[in-house]
Amino acid sequence: MPMTPANVTARRRLDEIIRSVHRLRPLPASATRLLKELDDPHATARTVAELIALDQALTAYVLKVANSAALGYLIPCASIQEAVVRLGFQQIRSLVYSTITAGPLSARLSGYRLGDQGLWYHSVAVASSAHWLATALHYPDPEKAYVAGLLHDIGKLVLDQYVMADYNQIASMMRANRLPMWQVEERLFGIDHAGVGGLAATHWQFPTELTEAIRYHHAPNADLPDQRLAALVNLANALAPEDQTEDPVLAGKIIHPTTMVILKLTPEKIAPLAERLKEGLFVYQDRLQLP
Ligand SMILES: [Fe+2]
Ligand SMILES: [Fe+2]
Repeated sequence: MPMTPANVTARRRLDEIIRSVHRLRPLPASATRLLKELDDPHATARTVAELIALDQALTAYVLKVANSAALGYLIPCASIQEAVVRLGFQQIRSLVYSTITAGPLSARLSGYRLGDQGLWYHSVAVASSAHWLATALHYPDPEKAYVAGLLHDIGKLVLDQYVMADYNQIASMMRANRLPMWQVEERLFGIDHAGVGGLAATHWQFPTELTEAIRYHHAPNADLPDQRLAALVNLANALAPEDQTEDPVLAGKIIHPTTMVILKLTPEKIAPLAERLKEGLFVYQDRLQLP
């Protein structure tokens, strides 16, 4: 590529975006320790409960979810350990990720035109849809799909200031070429929010399949080791029912052709699936509440 002034500016901005990712604060040590424990084959409900107990906010959240009406238990949990048994390690992992990301995901993102908690509501809608779709399509770990859905747009937190600075140009490129924002980001910045999210996930040392699901959520790739995870998030992002006035193409709510192949879907299956998803989502209502 010839080094024109425009290219130099673009290169500098890409470097700046990557530096912004490296400046992201590390995850709280308590959360990292707990996530590691949940992956340890020797972990028990007692060792997990002991680590949860070190974090007040997480303790309150775990007890609230374990005692929520959605689970249908009549007797409240007496201890954190009982709550861990009730919910299982997979759901505890989702609650840890929700606790550490709820604050940042609730911020107002002016570049993306998202008000307070706008990204949180979208993230939980996509996470819940990914969980439901994972169950419906026999993916073995629906909670993993939940976490991937929850974190899929995390790159927007970093890219927001850059989108904000060039908003008018981005909006006119979207309208003129009928492109979703992520494709315009890629053209303008050399990276889109999915790519930035993948870098952030690497920075935080998230598991590889989670990092890849974030990285490829708009364009799943059949070569990924867990190709179905990225495809489920892509499908959930497209089908999650949301109040929306914007054109679905411009809003990026489109199913990538590779998703259809990976999940063995045909166009005729989509409308009934979306209808059943809409009906199935009420059980996830509680998860919209902030931890
Ligand atoms: Fe996205
Ligand atoms: Fe999204």
